[in-house]
Amino acid sequence: MKICVLPGDGIGPEIMAQAVRVLNALGLKFEMEEALLGGCAVDHTGNPYPEATQRLAREADAVLLGAVGGPKWDTLAREHRPERGLLGIRKDLNLFANLRPAILYPELANASTLKAEVVAGLDILIVRELTGDIYFGQPRGIELREVNGERQRVGWNTMIYAEYEIRRILKVAFEAAQKRGRKLCSVDKMNVLETTQLWRDIAEEVAKEYPDVELSHMLVDNAAMQLVRNPKQFDVMVTGNMFGDILSDEASMLTGSIGMLPSASLDANNKGLYEPSHGSAPDIAGKGVANPLATILSAAMMLRYTFNQEEAAQRIESAVKKVLALGYRTGDIFEPGTNRVGTREMGDAVLVAL
Ligand code: IPM
Ligand code: MG
Repeated sequence: MKICVLPGDGIGPEIMAQAVRVLNALGLKFEMEEALLGGCAVDHTGNPYPEATQRLAREADAVLLGAVGGPKWDTLAREHRPERGLLGIRKDLNLFANLRPAILYPELANASTLKAEVVAGLDILIVRELTGDIYFGQPRGIELREVNGERQRVGWNTMIYAEYEIRRILKVAFEAAQKRGRKLCSVDKMNVLETTQLWRDIAEEVAKEYPDVELSHMLVDNAAMQLVRNPKQFDVMVTGNMFGDILSDEASMLTGSIGMLPSASLDANNKGLYEPSHGSAPDIAGKGVANPLATILSAAMMLRYTFNQEEAAQRIESAVKKVLALGYRTGDIFEPGTNRVGTREMGDAVLVAL
């Protein structure tokens, strides 16, 4: 079980340290090697996804990532930005299937900005296509063109999906739905975009192979509305890269605690990159107050999906539930009457619970 560990930027190194402690406490044999991705990699090598990291990531069975990015690198040219490192590793490892669960822990019911009855028991899985769409479409650019009789800058990107890309992500989503509530909602914008008309047609074709799953379709604007109106109507949602980026942020905030949510990005053979759904939080970096639970839960997802260690995954998840039940809270999920702890103490609590 070879893991490439990428702490990244901002709070990344702090939360990763706790996830590594938890993994080491399981009594399993991991080989872990650290490398640079994101802003820290730019600082050391000039490249957000350096060759040494590429080698390690390709060799490993799984990649565990903290977070990348920060204001320090925002003024750099696009190809040197930390985000390019993240997009680069996703594409390089062919991690086309992004699984983003949004689960409301009963102990954190008050963290949501929505009424408790709207979100109580919420358990959604968003399956986002991750290596295609307008994110990677060619051609793209900013250039000077004649518009309305004057030369001005024009920015353009291309939204593009090939049939095989749509088909393979839909299969992942149908299979995920089979293991859950057997309901799949495919999100598109077929009333306007041809790309997503193709998406809908292929969803209908693939559905024939999964008669036990109930497939529905929803336009993305309506889906954004339904997620706040009545989120519990959803079981699994599947959508393209851009819509999935937006809807998964929205879904994560239904739970009020993005600091709790893990994610997995998988290739066709269950090699995966695992990372918290939240970002690098530069405002609290280095203060020892960040919530490490999303990274710890990402490690649990890694054990489940890449290493087939279901029991160990559940041990971690139960330990996290236990520390919540015991009242431990980092600042992002703190409420009066609970026990406010820092990043390392939260890691300690999980270790004790384990
Ligand atoms: C995410 C992030 C990334 C994305 C950025 C940082 C490139 O928002 O993982 O959702 O847009 O995919
Ligand atoms: Mg995003």
